[in-house]
Order: sequence, then structure tokens, then C-alpha cells
Amino acid sequence: MSQQVVLTGIKPTGIPHLGNLVGAIEPALKLSHSRDKRALYFIADYHALTGLKDAQLLHDYSRSLAATWIALGLDPNRVVFYRQSDVPEVFELSWILACFTPKGLMNRAHAYKAAVQKNQEDGEADLDAGVNMGLYTYPVLMAADILLMQTDWVPVGGDQLQHIEITRDIAQYFNRQYRREIFTLPEAMIDESGAVIPGLDGRKMSKSYNNTIPIFANPEELRKLVFRIATDSSRPGEPKDPDASTIFQIFRVVATDDETKAFRQLFEQGIAWKDAKEHLFDVLNRRLSGPRERFRDLIDDTAALDEILASGAQKARQVAGETMGAVRSAIGQTVE
Ligand code: ADP
Ligand code: TRP
Repeated sequence: MSQQVVLTGIKPTGIPHLGNLVGAIEPALKLSHSRDKRALYFIADYHALTGLKDAQLLHDYSRSLAATWIALGLDPNRVVFYRQSDVPEVFELSWILACFTPKGLMNRAHAYKAAVQKNQEDGEADLDAGVNMGLYTYPVLMAADILLMQTDWVPVGGDQLQHIEITRDIAQYFNRQYRREIFTLPEAMIDESGAVIPGLDGRKMSKSYNNTIPIFANPEELRKLVFRIATDSSRPGEPKDPDASTIFQIFRVVATDDETKAFRQLFEQGIAWKDAKEHLFDVLNRRLSGPRERFRDLIDDTAALDEILASGAQKARQVAGETMGAVRSAIGQTVE
């Protein structure tokens, strides 16, 4: 049976947090263990450049994101793990795809529309103020990431669905023009729980809001932050709805099935919030204490991290080379 390709990228724009762990990293790691799938995961550093211009920060965030994945259990022998900017074919394909992308499609992309709307609200005369071409054509680069690797499935949060639809549109324009299936049409894979983990201020936990619980906070800090997770005013002894609780949502991705079942019962029996938090801290710290140390080692061992990324890039470039061969030939660059 041929393996299906699963691909996803995360932007290195800050310190990874529990929202990323629950919504992206743990599900992707689980997927990478299925035999019928070939997983490619990457650091989307040139997507980050649309907003992050501080050289030191971009460098540090890229390395710390790479170390985070590996420390948490990504096996580089099983997953093709690479940095986007190490695969130059991505940028060649991005240009070619841009020539097949109607400008109107980019005008309708959510991130661009949000920027325009903000300018409107701020009474800015130039509605495109602050929008660089990288932000504007962001979906084209993302399409290149996906189509280059002949991806079948893209595990992402619901906010990325539009980008996958745009990718399919662009792939279809190209395939139709040259009357062959040069690109596989990808599908989004949205986590069935779709849980969005709120941050410490109640808004979505996000690197942009400074409201996060960092994955590798030290145990004292982690415990303190877990105790700051907002809860409702129900008292000890009052039954609580596990599915409406952030504590439970985080717990279930790091605990075993049996532990999760037992925790659900405790909620129904009215566990006190402080005890629920203590349980959450325990399973979180159990899951994270080994990785926390591995993370520190990896950050210090520049050579090891570089080698993993270099070997991932080499494997990614093999696939990229095959796709680009077909693409160049289709557009008339090489004669078959
Ligand atoms: P951030 O909002 O912190 O910048 P990103 O947009 O870089 O996070 O998202 C990286 C991945 O983590 C995406 O797959 C996204 O769906 C997931 N993710 C981010 N924040 C959360 C959250 N609060 N709850 C669940 N998943 C999240
Ligand atoms: N746009 C994605 C995000 O903001 C990151 C990303 C870049 C990506 N290229 C990708 C995700 C390709 C999946 C596939 O989260």
C-alpha cells in the first residue's frame, strides 16, 4: 500500500506554548506513528519573516521550535523534519504558482482582509498600509510548501482551512492548464475536538497576546501558571462539565485513556478546582520533565540540531526535485 503524505508547518514567531502542544504538536506526533502515513513537518521560517524582522529573534525562535519538536518526541528517522528556507525549490515553485494565482484570490484571504479592515477602522487613508507583499502572497508560499511534497493531508487548526482551499484552487488551475495531474490535491485534517485553549487572560492562548503557558517553563513556574488557569465559580462538590473546562482539554492530550476516563468521573463528582489543577500539573510535569531536559541539551548542542535539520532538508529536497522535474517540464523548461 502506498503511504499517504501528511505535511504541516509551524511558524517560529515566539516561545511554543500549551496551546501549540494541544492543538498542533501532540496530534502531529501521534499521526507520525501511523504506518500508512509519511510525515513531513517543517519550521516555516520564511512565513515568519512577513512579520518578524529581528534577525536574532528569528534565529532563536527557529532553533527553539526545532528543539521543541525533537525534545517532545519527534523521531527524525520517521519524520522528514526540515527548515523551509533550506529547501530552495519551495521558493522557485512559489513564483511559478504565483503566475497561476488570480490576484482576486489573494484579496479575499483572511489575514490580508483583516489588515485592510484594521486600516479602515483606524481611519488610515491607505488601506494597504503596513501590508508587505510577503503577507499579501502568504497563501502562495503555503501552497508551494504543500504541493511541492505531493501532500494528501494537512493537519492544521480551523483558522488555516481557507489556506488549504486556496492551495487546492491553485493546484487545479495548474493541473488543468497542462492537462495532467502534476499536483496532488491536499485536504485539511482538522482535529476532531477542535479545542482552542484559552490563555491566562481568557483570550485564545497565543504567542501574540503574551498570555501563554510555555511548554518548557520550569516546574515551579509551570505549577504557578497552571494554578492561574481561569475556572468558573462552581464550588468543591458541585459537578463540573469536563468538556467545557480548559483543565480537562489540556489533561486529555497528555494523560492515558484510563486517566482521562477517571478524571472525567472526578469532574462529574465535583472535584475542587484546586485539586483538578494539581492533577493537571502532575500529568503535565510527567510528560514534560524529560523533554524539558532534552530541550536544554539540544539548544546547547548546535551541531546535533544542525545535523538533524540538514538531513531532513536533504530528504525533503529529493521529493522536491521530483516534483520540480515534472513542473519544469510541464511549463516548457525541459523537453521530455
Ligand atoms: P500562535 O497563535 O501562538 O501564534 P500559531 O498561529 O503559530 O500560534 O499556531 C501554531 C499551531 O498551534 C496551529 O496549528 C494552531 O492551530 C495551534 N494553536 C495555536 N494556539 C492554539 C490554542 N490556543 N489552542 C489550540 N491550538 C492552538
Ligand atoms: N500558515 C500556517 C500557520 O500560520 C503555517 C504554515 C506555513 C503551514 N506553511 C504551511 C501549515 C504548510 C501547514 C502546511 O499556522
